[in-house]
Formats: sequence, C-alpha cells, structure tokens
Amino acid sequence: MSQKKKVNNKKKEQDLELLVGLAKQICKNAYAPYSNFHVGAALLGKNGKIYTGVNVENASYGLTICAERSSLTKAVSESCKKFIAIAIFEKKRGLILPCGACRQVLMEFSPSLKIVVKIQNRYELLSLEELLPKAFSL
Ligand code: THU
Repeated sequence: MSQKKKVNNKKKEQDLELLVGLAKQICKNAYAPYSNFHVGAALLGKNGKIYTGVNVENASYGLTICAERSSLTKAVSESCKKFIAIAIFEKKRGLILPCGACRQVLMEFSPSLKIVVKIQNRYELLSLEELLPKAFSL
C-alpha cells in the first residue's frame, strides 16, 4: 500500500474513532428508565459538524424518540440536512444498527449515509441503502 493511502486510512480510522467516542460519551445522557437501553448517536454532517443525540423515553412507550432521530432533529434545526456518517452506541452492547423507523427517517435526508459498524476489531462502514433497500419515497 502507498504511503498516501496508509495516511488516508489512518485519518479515516481516527475520524471514525472520534464519532464512536462521541456516541459512547453521549449515551450517558439517555433517558431510558423503561428499557434500560441507553443509546447515543453521533451524526456527521456534510458541513463537518457532529450532532449528538440520545433516546428519550416516555411513560407512554410509543412516544419514545430514538437516539438517531434525536441527533437528526438537532442537525436539521441547525440547518444541516446532508450527512456523511453516523455512529450509534448502546452502553452495554457497543455499536448497534439503526431501527427500521430511523432508517426511513435518515433516508429522507441522505441515502448515501454510512453507518459505522465494528467487524473483527476494525471499523467498517455500511451504507443506508444496504440497510434499507427499495425504500419508500414520494
Ligand atoms: N433505540 C434507539 O435509540 N435507537 C435504535 O436504533 C434502537 C432503539 C431506543 C428506543 C428505546 O428507548 C430503547 O432503545 C429500546 O428499544
């Protein structure tokens, strides 16, 4: 592998580590007294900013907001509508994949969004289109 490629790979690995680190850190703020499943999300916008979010549960269970959607609404509120990558971290499980509802909501903004997963101790990226093929749209 060329030196340039090695440097680029290292930089990408560091960027993903930062995103995962932020998702891990923010999951401590999750409000999850019912499921005890504490989720944090870190969403990297095309503007280079990272928007974090957590799941916010409710006694009326169906009103719960997932961490992914909470990070997305924060980003859109601050006028960022295009995204590069997202890391979703649960306190005990580590990196997780987005639920079906969140896949659909993220798809609205960025079909090319990448989701960070860990395979054999290395970060890999899955595309949202792989996770939600033939998605609904108007
Ligand atoms: N949850 C998320 O925040 N993101 C997901 O992708 C899966 C589920 C939350 C919702 C609920 O508060 C708890 O995890 C258990 O489902």
